[in-house]
Amino acid sequence: MTITATHTLPGLKAHSAPAAAPAAAAHGIRHLAIIMDGNGRWARKRNLPRLAGHKAGTDNLHRVLRECDRQGIEVVTLYAFSTENWRRPEEEVSGLMRLLEIVIDRELAELHAKGVQIRHIGRIDRIPVLLQKKIQHAIEHTRHNTRLILNIALNYGGRAEIVDAVKQMIVAGVDPECVDETMIGRYLYTSELPDPDLIVRTSGEYRVSNFLIWQGAYSEYYITDVHWPDFDEGELRKAIASYVARDRRFGGVTKTT
Ligand code: FPP
Repeated sequence: MTITATHTLPGLKAHSAPAAAPAAAAHGIRHLAIIMDGNGRWARKRNLPRLAGHKAGTDNLHRVLRECDRQGIEVVTLYAFSTENWRRPEEEVSGLMRLLEIVIDRELAELHAKGVQIRHIGRIDRIPVLLQKKIQHAIEHTRHNTRLILNIALNYGGRAEIVDAVKQMIVAGVDPECVDETMIGRYLYTSELPDPDLIVRTSGEYRVSNFLIWQGAYSEYYITDVHWPDFDEGELRKAIASYVARDRRFGGVTKTT
């Protein structure tokens, strides 16, 4: 496939050079979303506490994001904590929230320097106040960055997102006659972003887990047995290669049949 044009989101710089475009951008992967599963199993295999698995999971973000950037991907959405994850033991939940604070403190300066724009998708209300503040600060601090959008799905649920969109449409007094798929898309947390082209799930479960259920209607899924802390650049390249080999038809027919 040759590229004839580069895509640019509002406020995002186009990744350059069709001639040497990396695989993902060249094959139209603009938005990559990841269900980062398997931290607990990674830890159990090593006789470590579950939180050590989450820590290893956060340490993995660096190399994956670096590869996403190299691949010319414009938007990366990471499923960090679902609306259902509150059911986990209190110790694990508070440990995870603390880890997220540490990650923001540790990574913000570098992400900002690299031109990453940080966003949050999900409900902010139940998140501990200190973490809320750090998230708001990270969003504000990076809002003008144009290289890559990093969406952190935290206290996120796809059904809750649709409920929130419907509520907002009612509050805005939207005329039912005007409601169509484009309009609903505009009221979702992801509003003007493209739908994910590829959704990766690590650790082998064949489930959607309430992640981007509207936006993922036509996404390609890639599921690997590799646990999230072991999902490195090479594993991401395998996911991209699998996507490239597929024939996306969006309900139509392939050009060759
Ligand atoms: C699933 O593993 C993982 C999570 C619920 C948390 C993932 C969060 C991170 C890696 C931190 C991300 C941080 C940022 C800033 C995006 P699991 O506990 O369900 O594993 P298991 O299924 O093996 O038990």
